[in-house]
Amino acid sequence: MRIAITGSTGLVGTALIPALQNDGHQVVRLVRSSGNAPEGDIARWQPDSGTIDLAALGAVDAVIHLAGENVAGGRWTKARKQRIAHSRGPATERLCQTLAGLQTPPKILISASATGIYGDRDNEELHEASALDSRDDFLATVAKQWELGTEPLANSNTRIVHLRIGIVLDRSGGALARMLLPFRLGIGGRLGSGNHWVSWITLHDLVRAMQYILKDASLHGPVLAVAPTPVSNREFTRTLGKVLRRPTILPMPRFALRLLFGEFANVLLASQRARPHRLLEAGFEFDHANLEYALRASLE
Ligand SMILES: NC(=O)c1ccc[n+]([C@@H]2O[C@H](COP(=O)([O-])OP(=O)(O)OC[C@H]3O[C@@H](n4cnc5c(N)ncnc54)[C@H](OP(=O)(O)O)[C@@H]3O)[C@@H](O)[C@H]2O)c1
Repeated sequence: MRIAITGSTGLVGTALIPALQNDGHQVVRLVRSSGNAPEGDIARWQPDSGTIDLAALGAVDAVIHLAGENVAGGRWTKARKQRIAHSRGPATERLCQTLAGLQTPPKILISASATGIYGDRDNEELHEASALDSRDDFLATVAKQWELGTEPLANSNTRIVHLRIGIVLDRSGGALARMLLPFRLGIGGRLGSGNHWVSWITLHDLVRAMQYILKDASLHGPVLAVAPTPVSNREFTRTLGKVLRRPTILPMPRFALRLLFGEFANVLLASQRARPHRLLEAGFEFDHANLEYALRASLE
């Protein structure tokens, strides 16, 4: 297949591209006009207008849409929240308008979404058919708009997958990489009460899940990309300490999190106990279903 990827320079895209190329696919990166152009097969696109250099894009069989302002990249100022929101719902809608207007729209669109779409749900077991949070949680609202952004392709033959991704574990970036320093210094600890659920997936399994979804036509609509074994933040903390052979006795109280991170603290404290029903039903097997094993593999 010829596969176009947005957000290709991020944590996920960087791991996904060589895996797809290994499978024999041809990858074209959709590169934002303002950014530096990476080497290789690229087509410029403008998230603000949805414009794509169609000549460079050529005919594509699949689009994997990963682009979005990093939600953990700094304190949530008003401007940052705007960038987080605008780079998801509206940018996705414009991209999909352009794709819908192509002579041959792609056969499949995998569009990133996040478990944050469920909001803060205590001990409730969540899956793809669970009701979405109706409260006014910033990330849940953003994620809902993000998924609605694919609407322009709804009447095409494109198979649309909204990949609700949990916390991606890898040493090279994302949440785990940020946790390593404090944990290695022995000042890592549970967040708040530590009772909230963490839905995680290794980068390795996330890439494998995307490869699986490309091939399995039964998968469409919301698909959770999380390991089948969510854990409490307390358990996550204990396991990471064990793997790094460091103590984890210093909890970070809620008020300190709010002082340090402002509104972003809500994301660190939100509880999502999600299970990947659709992937499991479709026969996908996780290589890393056990957290301790997953952390050891991710930190190798
Ligand atoms: N990592 C996680 O734990 C996690 C969890 C849940 C959901 N997700 C979602 O999965 C997607 C991929 O995750 P990731 O970890 O690879 O993200 P990432 O490392 O933050 O990369 C996202 C990419 O999006 C592009 N981008 C950045 N700011 C942008 C903006 N303002 N407008 C448009 N594009 C922008 C950049 O690529 P270019 O410069 O190449 O355009 C960037 O490399 C993201 O949408 C993320 O929200 C990730």
